[in-house]
Amino acid sequence: MATNPVTADGRARILADGNHIPMLGLGVWQVPNGADCLNAVGWALELGYRHIDTAQAYGNEESVGRALRDSGLSRDAVHITTKFHPEHKDPTAEAEQSLERLGVDYVDLYLIHWPQGGPTWAWPGMERARELGYARSIGVSNFNVDELQALLTVATIPPAVDQLKLSPFEYRRALLEACQARNIAVEAYSPLGTGRHLSDKTVNVVAHRVGRTPAQVLLRWCVQHELIAITKSTHRERIEENAQIFDFSLSHEDMADLDASDRTDGTARALERPWWLRRRTGTRRTIFRRGRGLST
Ligand SMILES: NC(=O)c1ccc[n+]([C@@H]2O[C@H](COP(=O)([O-])OP(=O)(O)OC[C@H]3O[C@@H](n4cnc5c(N)ncnc54)[C@H](OP(=O)(O)O)[C@@H]3O)[C@@H](O)[C@H]2O)c1
Repeated sequence: MATNPVTADGRARILADGNHIPMLGLGVWQVPNGADCLNAVGWALELGYRHIDTAQAYGNEESVGRALRDSGLSRDAVHITTKFHPEHKDPTAEAEQSLERLGVDYVDLYLIHWPQGGPTWAWPGMERARELGYARSIGVSNFNVDELQALLTVATIPPAVDQLKLSPFEYRRALLEACQARNIAVEAYSPLGTGRHLSDKTVNVVAHRVGRTPAQVLLRWCVQHELIAITKSTHRERIEENAQIFDFSLSHEDMADLDASDRTDGTARALERPWWLRRRTGTRRTIFRRGRGLST
Protein backbone atom coordinates (compact mmCIF):
# COMPACT_ATOMS: atom_id res chain seq x y z
CA MET A 1 0.00 0.00 0.00
CA ALA A 2 1.32 3.47 -0.88
CA THR A 3 2.08 5.78 2.04
CA ASN A 4 3.07 9.39 2.56
CA PRO A 5 5.98 9.18 4.98
CA VAL A 6 6.42 11.46 7.93
CA THR A 7 9.80 13.17 8.36
CA ALA A 8 12.26 11.73 10.90
CA ASP A 9 11.40 14.36 13.54
CA GLY A 10 7.69 13.53 13.18
CA ARG A 11 6.80 17.16 12.51
CA ALA A 12 6.08 17.13 8.78
CA ARG A 13 4.57 14.89 6.19
CA ILE A 14 5.96 14.36 2.72
CA LEU A 15 3.23 14.69 0.11
CA ALA A 16 3.00 12.58 -3.03
CA ASP A 17 4.29 15.55 -5.05
CA GLY A 18 7.41 15.71 -2.85
CA ASN A 19 6.45 18.84 -0.90
CA HIS A 20 6.52 18.87 2.90
CA ILE A 21 3.65 19.98 5.13
CA PRO A 22 3.90 20.54 8.91
CA MET A 23 1.80 18.05 10.92
CA LEU A 24 0.22 20.87 12.97
CA GLY A 25 -1.46 23.93 11.52
CA LEU A 26 -3.41 26.87 12.94
CA GLY A 27 -6.83 27.23 11.28
CA VAL A 28 -8.62 30.57 11.10
CA TRP A 29 -12.22 29.66 10.31
CA GLN A 30 -14.54 32.04 12.20
CA VAL A 31 -11.65 34.36 13.06
CA PRO A 32 -12.61 37.85 11.89
CA ASN A 33 -10.28 39.66 9.51
CA GLY A 34 -8.39 42.32 11.49
CA ALA A 35 -7.03 42.34 15.03
CA ASP A 36 -8.33 38.88 16.04
CA CYS A 37 -6.77 37.16 13.04
CA LEU A 38 -3.58 39.23 13.20
CA ASN A 39 -3.14 38.30 16.85
CA ALA A 40 -3.91 34.58 16.45
CA VAL A 41 -1.61 34.12 13.46
CA GLY A 42 1.08 36.38 14.95
CA TRP A 43 1.12 34.43 18.24
CA ALA A 44 1.12 31.11 16.42
CA LEU A 45 4.13 32.08 14.32
CA GLU A 46 5.91 33.45 17.41
CA LEU A 47 5.19 30.18 19.26
CA GLY A 48 6.62 28.01 16.51
CA TYR A 49 3.69 27.15 14.23
CA ARG A 50 4.79 27.08 10.60
CA HIS A 51 1.46 26.20 9.00
CA ILE A 52 -1.61 28.42 8.62
CA ASP A 53 -4.92 27.25 7.11
CA THR A 54 -7.24 29.88 5.63
CA ALA A 55 -9.80 29.96 2.81
CA GLN A 56 -11.44 32.38 0.43
CA ALA A 57 -14.70 31.71 2.30
CA TYR A 58 -13.18 32.78 5.66
CA GLY A 59 -12.65 36.37 4.49
CA ASN A 60 -9.40 36.80 6.42
CA GLU A 61 -6.62 36.16 3.90
CA GLU A 62 -5.49 39.80 4.21
CA SER A 63 -4.80 39.42 7.93
CA VAL A 64 -3.05 36.09 7.46
CA GLY A 65 -0.70 37.71 4.94
CA ARG A 66 -0.11 40.76 7.11
CA ALA A 67 0.64 38.64 10.18
CA LEU A 68 3.13 36.64 8.12
CA ARG A 69 4.91 39.81 7.01
CA ASP A 70 4.84 41.27 10.54
CA SER A 71 6.40 38.06 11.90
CA GLY A 72 9.66 38.73 10.08
CA LEU A 73 9.77 35.10 8.97
CA SER A 74 10.69 34.42 5.38
CA ARG A 75 7.89 33.40 3.05
CA ASP A 76 9.30 29.92 2.53
CA ALA A 77 9.47 29.26 6.29
CA VAL A 78 5.67 29.13 6.61
CA HIS A 79 3.24 26.76 4.90
CA ILE A 80 0.12 28.62 3.79
CA THR A 81 -3.05 26.88 2.64
CA THR A 82 -6.02 28.59 1.09
CA LYS A 83 -9.14 27.08 -0.47
CA PHE A 84 -11.11 27.74 -3.62
CA HIS A 85 -14.67 28.81 -2.88
CA PRO A 86 -16.66 26.50 -5.21
CA GLU A 87 -19.55 28.91 -5.62
CA HIS A 88 -17.17 30.85 -7.83
CA LYS A 89 -16.37 29.76 -11.37
CA ASP A 90 -12.66 29.98 -12.01
CA PRO A 91 -10.14 28.46 -9.55
CA THR A 92 -7.17 30.02 -11.38
CA ALA A 93 -8.57 33.57 -11.30
CA GLU A 94 -9.64 33.12 -7.67
CA ALA A 95 -6.16 31.87 -6.76
CA GLU A 96 -4.68 35.03 -8.25
CA GLN A 97 -6.99 37.11 -6.07
CA SER A 98 -6.09 35.09 -2.99
CA LEU A 99 -2.41 35.79 -3.66
CA GLU A 100 -3.17 39.51 -3.87
CA ARG A 101 -5.09 39.48 -0.59
CA LEU A 102 -2.38 37.40 1.11
CA GLY A 103 0.38 39.54 -0.41
CA VAL A 104 2.41 36.48 -1.42
CA ASP A 105 3.63 35.06 -4.72
CA TYR A 106 2.35 31.54 -4.08
CA VAL A 107 0.46 29.43 -1.60
CA ASP A 108 1.84 26.10 -0.51
CA LEU A 109 -1.47 24.31 -0.83
CA TYR A 110 -4.66 25.21 -2.68
CA LEU A 111 -7.75 23.07 -2.01
CA ILE A 112 -11.22 22.83 -3.50
CA HIS A 113 -13.15 23.66 -0.32
CA TRP A 114 -16.03 21.24 -1.00
CA PRO A 115 -17.33 19.31 -4.02
CA GLN A 116 -20.23 21.58 -4.87
CA GLY A 117 -21.42 21.02 -8.45
CA GLY A 118 -19.53 17.70 -8.63
CA PRO A 119 -15.99 16.54 -7.96
CA THR A 120 -14.27 17.19 -11.31
CA TRP A 121 -15.33 20.49 -12.92
CA ALA A 122 -12.94 22.73 -10.96
CA TRP A 123 -9.87 20.51 -11.24
CA PRO A 124 -8.48 21.79 -14.59
CA GLY A 125 -8.46 25.30 -13.07
CA MET A 126 -6.69 23.95 -9.98
CA GLU A 127 -4.06 22.26 -12.16
CA ARG A 128 -3.64 25.50 -14.11
CA ALA A 129 -3.09 27.39 -10.83
CA ARG A 130 -0.31 24.96 -10.01
CA GLU A 131 1.22 25.16 -13.47
CA LEU A 132 1.29 28.96 -13.19
CA GLY A 133 3.12 28.66 -9.86
CA TYR A 134 0.25 30.10 -7.80
CA ALA A 135 0.21 26.92 -5.67
CA ARG A 136 2.97 24.43 -4.88
CA SER A 137 0.50 21.62 -4.15
CA ILE A 138 -3.18 21.16 -4.96
CA GLY A 139 -5.84 19.08 -3.30
CA VAL A 140 -9.41 18.84 -2.10
CA SER A 141 -11.52 19.01 1.02
CA ASN A 142 -14.70 17.22 2.07
CA PHE A 143 -14.36 14.69 -0.80
CA ASN A 144 -15.60 11.14 -0.15
CA VAL A 145 -14.20 7.98 -1.79
CA ASP A 146 -16.41 8.12 -4.89
CA GLU A 147 -15.59 11.79 -5.41
CA LEU A 148 -11.86 11.12 -5.07
CA GLN A 149 -12.10 8.24 -7.52
CA ALA A 150 -14.01 10.33 -10.09
CA LEU A 151 -11.38 13.06 -9.75
CA LEU A 152 -8.46 10.67 -10.13
CA THR A 153 -9.97 9.36 -13.35
CA VAL A 154 -9.72 12.78 -15.03
CA ALA A 155 -6.78 14.37 -13.20
CA THR A 156 -3.44 15.02 -14.86
CA ILE A 157 -2.02 16.06 -11.47
CA PRO A 158 -3.54 13.91 -8.70
CA PRO A 159 -4.75 15.67 -5.52
CA ALA A 160 -2.02 15.59 -2.87
CA VAL A 161 -4.38 16.15 0.08
CA ASP A 162 -7.96 15.62 1.24
CA GLN A 163 -8.85 17.84 4.23
CA LEU A 164 -11.58 16.13 6.25
CA LYS A 165 -13.58 16.46 9.44
CA LEU A 166 -11.76 13.94 11.64
CA SER A 167 -11.38 13.17 15.31
CA PRO A 168 -11.77 10.04 17.44
CA PHE A 169 -15.53 10.68 17.16
CA GLU A 170 -15.38 11.09 13.38
CA TYR A 171 -12.86 8.39 12.57
CA ARG A 172 -13.73 7.68 8.94
CA ARG A 173 -11.61 4.57 8.60
CA ALA A 174 -12.84 3.50 5.14
CA LEU A 175 -12.18 6.99 3.78
CA LEU A 176 -8.77 7.15 5.46
CA GLU A 177 -7.80 3.77 4.02
CA ALA A 178 -8.95 4.84 0.56
CA CYS A 179 -6.80 7.99 0.80
CA GLN A 180 -3.81 5.99 1.97
CA ALA A 181 -4.20 3.52 -0.89
CA ARG A 182 -4.25 6.43 -3.35
CA ASN A 183 -1.28 8.23 -1.78
CA ILE A 184 -3.45 11.18 -0.73
CA ALA A 185 -2.38 12.72 2.59
CA VAL A 186 -5.20 13.51 5.00
CA GLU A 187 -5.62 16.67 7.03
CA ALA A 188 -7.92 16.55 10.08
CA TYR A 189 -10.07 19.65 10.47
CA SER A 190 -12.10 20.38 13.61
CA PRO A 191 -10.00 17.85 15.58
CA LEU A 192 -11.42 19.25 18.84
CA GLY A 193 -14.96 19.07 17.43
CA THR A 194 -14.92 22.90 17.32
CA GLY A 195 -14.45 22.63 21.10
CA ARG A 196 -17.22 20.09 21.73
CA HIS A 197 -14.97 17.02 22.19
CA LEU A 198 -12.88 18.63 24.93
CA SER A 199 -15.34 17.63 27.67
CA ASP A 200 -15.76 14.02 26.51
CA LYS A 201 -15.25 11.45 29.27
CA THR A 202 -12.88 9.12 27.38
CA VAL A 203 -10.75 12.04 26.23
CA ASN A 204 -10.51 13.29 29.82
CA VAL A 205 -9.68 9.82 31.18
CA VAL A 206 -6.82 9.50 28.66
CA ALA A 207 -5.70 13.08 29.38
CA HIS A 208 -5.53 12.29 33.10
CA ARG A 209 -3.64 9.05 32.40
CA VAL A 210 -0.96 10.77 30.31
CA GLY A 211 -0.86 14.02 32.30
CA ARG A 212 -1.84 16.19 29.35
CA THR A 213 -4.81 18.37 28.44
CA PRO A 214 -7.83 17.11 26.45
CA ALA A 215 -6.84 19.31 23.49
CA GLN A 216 -3.32 17.89 23.45
CA VAL A 217 -4.70 14.32 23.54
CA LEU A 218 -7.05 14.96 20.62
CA LEU A 219 -4.28 16.56 18.55
CA ARG A 220 -1.79 13.83 19.43
CA TRP A 221 -4.35 11.22 18.34
CA CYS A 222 -4.29 12.86 14.88
CA VAL A 223 -0.51 12.92 14.66
CA GLN A 224 -0.20 9.27 15.71
CA HIS A 225 -2.61 8.34 12.93
CA GLU A 226 -0.37 10.36 10.54
CA LEU A 227 -3.13 12.94 10.11
CA ILE A 228 -2.11 16.57 9.69
CA ALA A 229 -3.99 18.38 12.48
CA ILE A 230 -5.59 21.78 11.74
CA THR A 231 -6.83 23.39 14.94
CA LYS A 232 -8.05 26.86 15.81
CA SER A 233 -7.77 29.12 18.82
CA THR A 234 -7.74 32.87 19.30
CA HIS A 235 -6.18 32.62 22.76
CA ARG A 236 -2.42 32.80 23.07
CA GLU A 237 -2.18 30.32 25.95
CA ARG A 238 -4.30 27.76 24.09
CA ILE A 239 -2.31 28.22 20.88
CA GLU A 240 0.79 27.50 22.95
CA GLU A 241 -0.81 24.50 24.70
CA ASN A 242 -1.95 23.01 21.39
CA ALA A 243 1.60 23.08 20.01
CA GLN A 244 2.94 20.86 22.82
CA ILE A 245 2.11 17.55 21.19
CA PHE A 246 5.47 16.33 19.93
CA ASP A 247 7.02 15.51 23.32
CA PHE A 248 4.72 12.68 24.43
CA SER A 249 3.01 9.61 23.00
CA LEU A 250 -0.31 7.89 23.50
CA SER A 251 -0.02 4.19 24.27
CA HIS A 252 -1.69 1.48 22.23
CA GLU A 253 -4.39 1.34 24.94
CA ASP A 254 -4.94 5.12 24.85
CA MET A 255 -5.27 5.06 21.06
CA ALA A 256 -7.62 2.07 21.15
CA ASP A 257 -9.87 3.76 23.74
CA LEU A 258 -10.03 6.91 21.62
CA ASP A 259 -10.56 4.97 18.36
CA ALA A 260 -13.54 3.22 19.99
CA SER A 261 -15.27 6.63 20.33
CA ASP A 262 -16.00 6.67 16.58
CA ARG A 263 -19.62 7.51 15.85
CA THR A 264 -19.38 7.17 12.06
CA ASP A 265 -19.13 3.38 12.02
CA GLY A 266 -15.88 3.66 10.04
CA THR A 267 -17.63 5.41 7.19
CA ALA A 268 -16.27 6.23 3.72
CA ARG A 269 -18.37 9.41 3.75
CA ALA A 270 -16.70 12.76 4.19
CA LEU A 271 -19.61 14.32 6.05
CA GLU A 272 -22.86 13.10 7.52
CA ARG A 273 -24.76 16.21 6.35
CA PRO A 274 -23.01 18.09 3.52
CA TRP A 275 -23.90 21.77 4.03
CA TRP A 276 -23.79 22.63 0.32
CA LEU A 277 -26.54 20.09 -0.39
CA ARG A 278 -28.61 21.33 2.51
CA ARG A 279 -28.28 24.84 1.15
CA ARG A 280 -29.37 23.79 -2.34
CA THR A 281 -32.47 22.02 -1.06
CA GLY A 282 -33.15 24.98 1.20
CA THR A 283 -33.71 22.80 4.26
CA ARG A 284 -31.33 24.85 6.31
CA ARG A 285 -29.78 28.26 5.85
CA THR A 286 -26.08 28.63 5.32
CA ILE A 287 -24.57 32.06 5.38
CA PHE A 288 -21.15 33.33 4.45
CA ARG A 289 -20.06 36.51 6.10
CA ARG A 290 -16.77 38.16 5.21
CA GLY A 291 -14.51 37.94 8.20
CA ARG A 292 -17.07 35.90 10.09
CA GLY A 293 -16.56 32.64 8.22
CA LEU A 294 -19.17 30.06 7.38
CA SER A 295 -22.05 29.56 9.72
CA THR A 296 -24.62 26.85 9.32
N1 LIG B 1 -12.20 22.33 5.02
C1 LIG B 1 -13.28 22.60 5.72
O1 LIG B 1 -14.42 22.51 5.24
C2 LIG B 1 -13.12 23.04 7.14
C3 LIG B 1 -14.26 23.07 8.00
C4 LIG B 1 -14.06 23.45 9.32
C5 LIG B 1 -12.80 23.78 9.77
N2 LIG B 1 -11.72 23.77 8.91
C6 LIG B 1 -10.36 24.17 9.36
O2 LIG B 1 -10.04 23.51 10.58
C7 LIG B 1 -9.74 24.49 11.58
C8 LIG B 1 -10.06 23.97 12.95
O3 LIG B 1 -11.40 23.56 13.07
P1 LIG B 1 -12.42 24.30 14.05
O4 LIG B 1 -12.25 25.75 13.93
O5 LIG B 1 -13.74 23.68 13.82
O6 LIG B 1 -12.01 23.90 15.49
P2 LIG B 1 -11.20 22.97 16.52
O7 LIG B 1 -9.75 23.18 16.37
O8 LIG B 1 -11.77 21.62 16.47
O9 LIG B 1 -11.72 23.68 17.85
C9 LIG B 1 -11.59 25.07 18.04
C10 LIG B 1 -12.42 25.48 19.25
O10 LIG B 1 -11.84 24.92 20.42
C11 LIG B 1 -11.41 25.98 21.29
N3 LIG B 1 -10.05 25.60 21.74
C12 LIG B 1 -8.93 25.49 20.99
N4 LIG B 1 -7.90 25.07 21.73
C13 LIG B 1 -8.36 24.92 22.98
C14 LIG B 1 -7.78 24.53 24.21
N5 LIG B 1 -6.48 24.20 24.28
N6 LIG B 1 -8.55 24.50 25.33
C15 LIG B 1 -9.87 24.84 25.27
N7 LIG B 1 -10.48 25.21 24.14
C16 LIG B 1 -9.75 25.26 23.01
C17 LIG B 1 -11.39 27.23 20.46
O11 LIG B 1 -11.74 28.35 21.26
P3 LIG B 1 -10.94 29.76 21.19
O12 LIG B 1 -10.72 30.11 19.75
O13 LIG B 1 -11.90 30.67 21.91
O14 LIG B 1 -9.67 29.54 21.95
C18 LIG B 1 -12.48 26.95 19.44
O15 LIG B 1 -13.75 27.26 19.98
C19 LIG B 1 -10.55 25.71 11.11
O16 LIG B 1 -10.12 26.90 11.72
C20 LIG B 1 -10.30 25.65 9.63
O17 LIG B 1 -9.02 26.18 9.30
C21 LIG B 1 -11.88 23.39 7.62
